[in-house]
Amino acid sequence: AAPLLVLGLETSCDETAAAVVDGDKRIRSNVVLSQLDDHRAYGGVVPEIAARAHVSHLDRLIRRALDEAGVGLGDLSAIAATAGPGLIGGVIVGLTTAKALALGAGKPLIGVNHLEGHALTPRLVADVPFPYLLLLVSGGHCQLLAVEGVGRYRRLGTTIDDAVGEAFDKTAKLLNLGYPGGPAVEATAKAGDPSRFTLPRPMIGRPGCDFSFSGLKTAVRDLAASLPKPLSDRDKADIAAAFQQVVGAVMVDRTRRALALMPAGAPLVVAGGVAANVHLRTRLEALAASHGTAFIAPPIRLCTDNAAMIAWAGLEHFRLGRSDPLDLKPRARWPL
Ligand code: KG4
Ligand code: ZN
Repeated sequence: AAPLLVLGLETSCDETAAAVVDGDKRIRSNVVLSQLDDHRAYGGVVPEIAARAHVSHLDRLIRRALDEAGVGLGDLSAIAATAGPGLIGGVIVGLTTAKALALGAGKPLIGVNHLEGHALTPRLVADVPFPYLLLLVSGGHCQLLAVEGVGRYRRLGTTIDDAVGEAFDKTAKLLNLGYPGGPAVEATAKAGDPSRFTLPRPMIGRPGCDFSFSGLKTAVRDLAASLPKPLSDRDKADIAAAFQQVVGAVMVDRTRRALALMPAGAPLVVAGGVAANVHLRTRLEALAASHGTAFIAPPIRLCTDNAAMIAWAGLEHFRLGRSDPLDLKPRARWPL
C-alpha cells in the first residue's frame, strides 16, 4: 500500500511553514519562511505583524511544499496544522487554512499541539521507542517531559518564570548583541572566559526538576550595569560565556534528576530552538553517556520551529485513528 502522506502547517510564532511527510519517515518537503526581518526593528516578535505575514505567505508556501513533494491535495491522507499553543492570530491563520483545505479536498483534519510536534520529532529522524525523556527548550518553553506514547506525556519539570530561550534573548538584548539572541550569545561566548564573573546558579541542588531563569537575568543585568560603559567586547564575551556556563550547569542538574525518574535505559532527547546550542548539547551528551543512556538531538533545522514536525505528529495521531472536527478551536494556551 502507498505510505501515509500528511501535509503539515506551522504558524504559531514567527515562522510560516509547510511540509509534507510520509509514513516511511521521508520528509518529502519542508518549507520554512522566517519572519526575522519583519520583527528585527522591534527587538522581538510583534504578534499582529506575525499574523499578517502568515496570511500573506502561507498559501504560496503550501503550493511550494506540495510541488517539491510532487503531490497534489488529492494524494494526501490528512492535513495537520498547529492548533496551539502560540500567538493566537497566527494559530488562527494556519488552522483555518488547514480546515479550508481539508473541507475542499475532502481530507481529515488533525489539530496538533506545537509542543507535541517538538516532542515527537526524534521519532521522525530515528527509531526511538517509548518511553524517553524529553528536554524541551525553546523561546516559549522549558520543560522536562516523560514521553510515554503518542498523546501520553508526563511533565516532570517546567520553568516557574522565564523560558530558557527568553533568558538567552534578554541577555543578548542587555549586551546589545541583536536579535534573535540565542545564536548571538553563543557566538559571543566563544571568545569569552566563563570563570571571570560568578553568576547565581538557579535551582541547582533543589529537589524536583523545575527551572527558574528570572534571577539569572537580573544578575546579568546588574553585572552589566556595574561595568564601564560602553561594554568592551571582552566584557561582553566574558558575560555571555558565564551566562551560558550557568545555563548548562542548570540544564545538567535538572535533567540528571529527571533521568533518575525514568525507567533505566530510557533515552534522553533534546528539542526546541535552544537545542541548537553546541555548548548545551555537548554537556547533555556527556550527562547521557555518564548515565549509560542514548542521547538524541534532532538536526538543528528540525529543532527550531518547522512544519515537518507538525506533519509528523499529525501522522502519528492519524495512524492511531484520530482526526478532528472542522470546528476545532485554536488555543493560545494548551499545556501538554
Ligand atoms: O523552538 P524555537 O525556534 O521557537 C519557539 O520558541 O517555539 O526557539 C527559539 C528560541 C529563541 O529564544 C532563540 O534565541 C533560541 O531558541 N535559540 C538559541 C540558539 N538558537 C536559537 N539559544 C541558544 N543558543 C542557540 N544557538
Ligand atoms: Zn517551538
